[in-house]
Amino acid sequence: MAAQTKIAVLKERTAGETRVSAIPETVKKFIALGAVMAVEEGAGVNASITDEAFREAGAQVGPLETVLKDADIVFGVQGVEPSLLAGAKPGAWFAAVLDPFGQRARIDGYATAGVEALAMEFMPRITRAQSMDVLSSQSNLAGYKAVLAAADTYGRAFPMMMTAAGTITAARVFVMGVGVAGLQAIATARRLGAQVSATDVRSATKEQIQSLGAKPVFVENVAGIEGEGQGGYATEMSEEYQKAQAELVSSHIAKQDIVITTALIPGRAAPRLISDAQIATMRPGSVIFDLAVAQGGNVEGSVPDQVVDRHGVKIIGFSNTPAHLAADASALFARNLYNFLSAFWDKEAGKPVLDEEIGNAVRLTQGGKVVNERLLG
Ligand code: NAI
Repeated sequence: MAAQTKIAVLKERTAGETRVSAIPETVKKFIALGAVMAVEEGAGVNASITDEAFREAGAQVGPLETVLKDADIVFGVQGVEPSLLAGAKPGAWFAAVLDPFGQRARIDGYATAGVEALAMEFMPRITRAQSMDVLSSQSNLAGYKAVLAAADTYGRAFPMMMTAAGTITAARVFVMGVGVAGLQAIATARRLGAQVSATDVRSATKEQIQSLGAKPVFVENVAGIEGEGQGGYATEMSEEYQKAQAELVSSHIAKQDIVITTALIPGRAAPRLISDAQIATMRPGSVIFDLAVAQGGNVEGSVPDQVVDRHGVKIIGFSNTPAHLAADASALFARNLYNFLSAFWDKEAGKPVLDEEIGNAVRLTQGGKVVNERLLG
């Protein structure tokens, strides 16, 4: 029989990170596959999972050194300094969200350290990988939380209310960027009773917006506006399009109470969608939640984890939105990792063996070198 694969689960070291990359349920499932699970002490505490709960699920719980010793695979939510992984087996896999474009020096460090780094955010957007996709699972929760945070900061109510003391009108919510987070933001704002409109550069989102009961706001009649690039992601838009979009947004935004921005372009700074001049046209008391604040921001003047007041409008945005829903975000993240490795578990070898399509997409380093084509070129 092949030796058992040991999987180590790290306690997160990034400031403000509350999530954990395994939960008791996935610990049990990995053990059922034949793995040994070792969880660093206190790894789950910020996600409301005690060491005891991990132990009950069958994990060994201990300090970093013991957890990493002879580990074949290391799990994290975010990347760590490469030297931290020194105790793992030579050639061990490290699966986490590694921010390959922003943290290139670390990626080189994993290569030098002989670690095989797997970037979970590089999971291809193909049907069979949907259940392994951490970007989707975390964005969905982020879209939900963005609306709740905006509603909490807003000094008025979301739903229309007819009371003996008079009528409260429904809040008008505008969602910019209708990917996974945007769709959940629309659904959440609708559930709270707001009047919702939304826009995106990908015209395929129009029907999705309508099917959630919101109003699409789109640039029409501009050549080359099909903003859909590789893998269903957005591409950068032409100057002509950007101008038409800015005009449309300006007239619409002045009438909104809440704006949620979610626009991202992989590997680049987030596109600027709202200028200070546009903010000045909004009613005092309006709220903007910038979900892209950590990637440079969609909104002029937004600052991570701060409430910025511009022209009486509050601009908010968290540096790590899923971390504000630590328990659910951890559960979905942990299941993504389980779905990923279990799909490739080779019973005879007693370990996962990745195929080319997914393996080459997520693998950043191997054999001491950076091997991912998105980082080479
Ligand atoms: P994302 O997080 O990369 O971007 C968010 C949204 O912002 C996107 O809808 C994008 O089109 C939009 N955007 C970019 N620039 C913009 C601009 N200048 N103005 C307005 N909007 C702008 O996107 P996300 O959430 O990752 O989804 C991208 C696509 O991938 C979607 O079509 C989604 O359904 C698809 N997808 C497919 C999966 C699969 O098949 N496994 C899994 C997850 C998503």
